[in-house]
Amino acid sequence: MTGYEPSPALRRPQPAGSVTVRVPAKVNVQLAVGAPRPDGFHDLANVFLAVGLHDEVTVTPADTLRVTVSGPDAHLVPQDRTNLAARAAELLAARHGIADPAVHIHIAKDIPVAGGMAGGSADGAGALLACDALWETGADRAELLDICAELGSDVPFSLVGGAALGRGRGEILTPLDVGGTFHWVFALADGGLSTPAVYRECDRLRAGTSVPEPEASAELLAALRTGDPVALAAAVTNDLQAAAVSLRPSLAATLRAGAAAGALAGLVSGSGPTCAFLAEDAAAAAEVATALTASGTCRAARVAAGPVAGATVVTG
Ligand code: C5P
Repeated sequence: MTGYEPSPALRRPQPAGSVTVRVPAKVNVQLAVGAPRPDGFHDLANVFLAVGLHDEVTVTPADTLRVTVSGPDAHLVPQDRTNLAARAAELLAARHGIADPAVHIHIAKDIPVAGGMAGGSADGAGALLACDALWETGADRAELLDICAELGSDVPFSLVGGAALGRGRGEILTPLDVGGTFHWVFALADGGLSTPAVYRECDRLRAGTSVPEPEASAELLAALRTGDPVALAAAVTNDLQAAAVSLRPSLAATLRAGAAAGALAGLVSGSGPTCAFLAEDAAAAAEVATALTASGTCRAARVAAGPVAGATVVTG
């Protein structure tokens, strides 16, 4: 192979005047959930890691605001103004005196839908960054993060990427140092789980117990810093896991299959139902993925490594 090879994104034909943004999925390596707050949310210590499964969001000037979605699970994604991508365009337009956010937003979807991997949040952050570039609003990072927080608890992290500790309901971010690349296998499930339903089930399962203040684990942060997958495997936790398994008991078999396949650790990703398995290296991840697929306990298994960058303009 000689000379310059344009990336696949650059080779793709682009409608004139459009902007495309690539946004990653996330896995929560620690999700510590506090007691319910008066506003219905829960205080969290939420350690996010962005991983290399991406959606691509393209915005193009149009007569009116509309959303289309492509990809295997496209039919599961709302294609109206309830989609976080449409809401992102509306919020940015309202703040900058743009009377009509007339754009066609196209989402090329690869992140599992309603899978606990922040796919909807990714599309919100992607559309926001793309519209910002298209309209040249001049919004600074702080304003974009503010709009992200208004869109949803996980949306600011989709913009920022890398690794971060999320406090509050997950939207107050502190970037974290990561000393290496972690290799993951994601076992995708049939159908999604509703995030509010999983939080409600978590509250139900813990009713009558005293719930401690959520705190980030010092061991876990140290493992991220050193890039040691064995140390990280010993420290990963998810307080929503019992609730996700209670609502979807078949996840227990998926978690057992990943352990039997040699994963260093397995946990439900966020509110599920995707299960995330940490592997020693890329070769081990490929073996775990093959074994999980053969086990029949998941719809599909995908490998992805992290940390990766947050929302990034790739064309425009
Ligand atoms: O912030 P977002 O809209 O993504 O949250 C979806 C739902 O998840 C909330 O309505 C709430 O039920 C639950 N949630 C929560 N505590 C958080 C984040 C989300 O209870 N920190």
